Amino acid sequence: SWTPGNVVDDLVTAVREQVGQDRVLCALSGGVDSSVAAALVQRAVGDQLTCVFVDHGLLREGEAEQVEKDFVAATGVDLVVVDARERFLTALAGVTDPEAKRKIIGEQFIRVFEQAARDVVGRHGRSDSDEEHPVKWLVQGTLYPDVVESGGGEGAANIKSHHNVGGLPEDLQFGLVEPLRTLFKDEVRQVGLELGVPEGIVWRQPFPGPGLGIRIIGAVDAERLAILRRADAIAREELTRAGLDRDIWQCPVVLLADVRSVGVQGDGRTYGHPVVLRPVASEDAMTADWARVPYDVLAHISTRITNEVAEVNRVVLDVTSKPPGTIEWE
Ligand code: XMP
Repeated sequence: SWTPGNVVDDLVTAVREQVGQDRVLCALSGGVDSSVAAALVQRAVGDQLTCVFVDHGLLREGEAEQVEKDFVAATGVDLVVVDARERFLTALAGVTDPEAKRKIIGEQFIRVFEQAARDVVGRHGRSDSDEEHPVKWLVQGTLYPDVVESGGGEGAANIKSHHNVGGLPEDLQFGLVEPLRTLFKDEVRQVGLELGVPEGIVWRQPFPGPGLGIRIIGAVDAERLAILRRADAIAREELTRAGLDRDIWQCPVVLLADVRSVGVQGDGRTYGHPVVLRPVASEDAMTADWARVPYDVLAHISTRITNEVAEVNRVVLDVTSKPPGTIEWE
């Protein structure tokens, strides 16, 4: 029978068999999936694991701190933080096509990990035994729905290249350890609790690997990221304050960076950007309905964003279910 304890035992055994004595790297994003995957691999192979947290500059407000404080404090994992913000911005400059963005972000991720792997090997010395046990494996928090939607499942259409499946370059230097690839989100959360991952992380809403890069419709740059980051933080704060975190699956905030509309503020005309609120209710992200967030909560979010984020003068609500709309706009 399915219990979190049984599943943990089985997955731990499978990870040990897969990686043997080799060193393992984990792409820690701070999300539920990568955190639970890391905690599981830590349980399986202990200090053979080094977690790498890439700050790709596409993160939301406060996310780096959540990983460095909450997760490390709870698990004691070996964590390396890589500041790759400039690198990602440069690679993404001028790119507007969603699949191109996803591919670039996925490729850059792997390059950064390859460098991190060399650094980890260097840090542990180059003795004979280390050469026998090189960094050979990369942990990814891929879930069953990611596998299906990237065309990995039988007969599945390729809808989007998910960052952690479809966007991998062909000359990949690592084997993949994907201990969660048979699980749905609710199962991952149960496994996480079983492993002692902090509740604040276990119950965190999903956030895509390519981050804010696929929530800016248009080219990504530092200024646009800063605008979206502020708007997103306000929306999250108000939804949390209203006690809605467990009622809605997630609420992407999308910046329509190439769209402007006329507004009025004080006694001046504005010509700013719209942001879209995309609150959804879902069980597993395969299908979703738009979440009926109370009007007064939406009003608070709208007022605060337009007051506090100077470049945004209009807030709109996405009332499309999935299908036909996907949850993310790109
Ligand atoms: P869509 O937009 O396909 O999103 O309806 C379904 C769920 O997956 C998340 N998502 C991603 N997660 N890497 C991820 O780890 C990705 O590239 C990616 N793209 C979308 C999305 O936030 C939603 O929860």
